[in-house]
Amino acid sequence: MKVDILQVAREHLPGIAALETVCFSEPWSENALGLFLGDEAVAFAAVHGETVLGYIGMLLAPGEGQILNLAVLPEARRQGLARALVARLIEEAERKNLAALSLEVRVSNAPAIRLYQSFGFQIAGTRKHFYRRPTEDGLVMIKPLAPKSDV
Ligand SMILES: CC(C)(COP(=O)(O)OP(=O)(O)OC[C@H]1O[C@@H](n2cnc3c(N)ncnc32)[C@H](O)[C@@H]1OP(=O)(O)O)[C@@H](O)C(=O)NCCC(=O)NCCS
Repeated sequence: MKVDILQVAREHLPGIAALETVCFSEPWSENALGLFLGDEAVAFAAVHGETVLGYIGMLLAPGEGQILNLAVLPEARRQGLARALVARLIEEAERKNLAALSLEVRVSNAPAIRLYQSFGFQIAGTRKHFYRRPTEDGLVMIKPLAPKSDV
């Protein structure tokens, strides 16, 4: 199956909103996802033909990126798509010379925690009752990025 990792554009938003509905108990609306078309955030989608199979989004703070969302359609999981999306996002963060990436993840979300750890994210703390539906603590994970060489 040919899958492209593309920077998210307006045409991808309906597919991403559908993906959010399948993957999360509090999905982002198409309107909210418009954040990723502006300068304050960036997102990438794994696309097969017209179908969005997965996506990742990051909010840009000064010097730092905060991963807000990562999801892959259930039928497209365990094929390396999330790994490809995280890798693309890290590449972008390094290109932007960000010092670190951070994220929150449900304490029970072993697949995602394992994925992030494999990219060098480390557990930096816990946020009590960070999530709703169901209520659950969030782990804060951080990955420092290598500063860009001047030469
Ligand atoms: C987490 C999620 C994005 C992973 O997507 P995916 O495309 O299946 O992940 P990949 O195939 O790229 O797997 C990468 C690594 O993640 C880990 N992983 C993924 N699914 C796993 C599972 N079910 N159990 C254990 N580890 C898992 C493994 O380390 C895997 O590497 P491996 O296949 O070499 O063992 C997907 O399960 C998902 O959308 N879950 C629901 C939404 C969600 O929880 N998002 C994260 C919010 S922080």
